[in-house]
Parts: sequence; structure tokens; C-alpha cells
Amino acid sequence: MTGYISDDKRKVTTHRLIEMKQRGERISMLTAYDYTMAKIVDGAGVDVILVGDSASNVMAGNVTTLPMTLDQMIYHGKSVVRGVNRAMVIVDMPFGTYQGNSKEGLASAIRIMKESHADALKLEGGEEIIETVKRILSAGIPIMGHLGLMPQSINKYGTYTVRARDKNEADKLIRDAHLLEEAGCFGIVLEKIPAELAARVASELTIPIIGIGAGGQVDGQVLVVQDMLGMSKGFSPRFLRRYADLHTVMTDAISQYVEDVKEKDFPNEQEQY
Ligand code: KIV
Repeated sequence: MTGYISDDKRKVTTHRLIEMKQRGERISMLTAYDYTMAKIVDGAGVDVILVGDSASNVMAGNVTTLPMTLDQMIYHGKSVVRGVNRAMVIVDMPFGTYQGNSKEGLASAIRIMKESHADALKLEGGEEIIETVKRILSAGIPIMGHLGLMPQSINKYGTYTVRARDKNEADKLIRDAHLLEEAGCFGIVLEKIPAELAARVASELTIPIIGIGAGGQVDGQVLVVQDMLGMSKGFSPRFLRRYADLHTVMTDAISQYVEDVKEKDFPNEQEQY
């Protein structure tokens, strides 16, 4: 097997992530939504597994992340947690379960933590949701923030293009990042923003900054696992590096199976009772 597997088999905690930032060790993070994939991702040495609400697109075929429900996120969270030994598991709070009402936000957060057994939650937004962030943190639930392109706000933006290119939006993003750190978040995801801005946030903050389309000068990277494995076709943003072409591998294997069944080649003598 190629790659980097840490000798440190201890469970990854918020404290360990902050230590990794302090010693300049980059944090690896990938999404997973089910038990089988989570077991592979954890076994390959990934530090943090995100049960992203991108499950809406990747698993359910929706156009946006908005339809995801609390029950669905709990189902995916539980499935992932069962497959993981070492990685920290973070579950996304889905759209509509925390915005606007901090008490409802806390109730949703407690349900996810109690029922999925995840280690932490991720919420999109800064100042607008800071009361909710503080209330959830006050219950002892670790939170990772998410700024820049926030897919739950796609109907406000109208496009998935790079965010915070203009000064006003960049200034707000920096203020929001500081607010989240001061509130007690243990890390922040920055999605699709200029690399220079992301580098500035990572250098100003003491908590780890994880980028997706945010350049290399941040403390870690996250990708959607199906995208980096090349299972999806037709989605090729500049930030995506494909490490395999599983679409081809899987299609070839499945067409071979179809052929074998049609040709009465499967099952053979050894494959029956
Ligand atoms: O839902 C998700 O997969 C995410 C990542 C893209 C960061 O939020």
C-alpha cells in the first residue's frame, strides 16, 4: 500500500487537531456517508471524516444540499461512526435545523450527537448564526465553522462561483472567522475563496483552517471522496485532484458481470452449492 499512514493510532480529537496546526502538520479530511466507505477512509489514515450534507447531491442525487433532513444526517452519521476507529467524525447540521432559532439549533445538535455518536458538528455561517454556535458550544458540543462558499445559501448567491473576491465580502469573512474562533469553534472550513485570503485567515487564527478550493497555505484539505476517487463524471472544478478513475473501473467490472450472466458463464461449477 502506498501513502502516509500515521503511527499514532489514538483517536483524533479537537485537541490533537490544534496540536497538528501548531507543529505544522497538515490535516487530511474527506467526506464519507456510509459504513463501507468510512472503514476504507479511516483505514487509509485520514484524520477527519466529514459526514457532509453533500450526501444530498452524492447519495440522493439532489441538485442542492437543502433537502437534507435531520433524520437523514443522523442515519448517515451513525453508519459512518460504526466504520471508524481513529478519525474524528464530524456531521453537518442540515439546512433549516439551526438557522434563526438558537434553541431549535441546540435541540437539533443534541439529537445528532445522541443518536449518531459523532464527535463534532459543522455549521455554515458567521455572525448570523453566532448565537446558535454559542448555545451549542455551551452544551459541550464541539463545532467546526464553514465560511466562503456555503452551499446551503446557494439560492441567495445564485451561483457556485468563487466567493469573497471583493473587499467587502473578504472583510466580512475575516471578521466571521475571528468571531467563530472567539466563540470557541475548534476549526473552520473555507470553501472556494482566493488562496491569499485563506492563507491570511489561517495565519491570523490559532484554530485549524481546512480548505476546499482555498489553496495550499491553510492547515488542512477536504474533498468529497466520490469526486477524488473519480466516481463522478462531469464535475471538474479547478481544485479537484482525481486520485483514481473508479468510474471506469466500476463500469468495466459491472459490464463484465452483465456479459458473464448473459453468456451463462457466471456462476461456474466452483461458484455453486
Ligand atoms: O457537505 C460537504 O461535503 C462539505 C464539504 C464540501 C466541505 O461541506
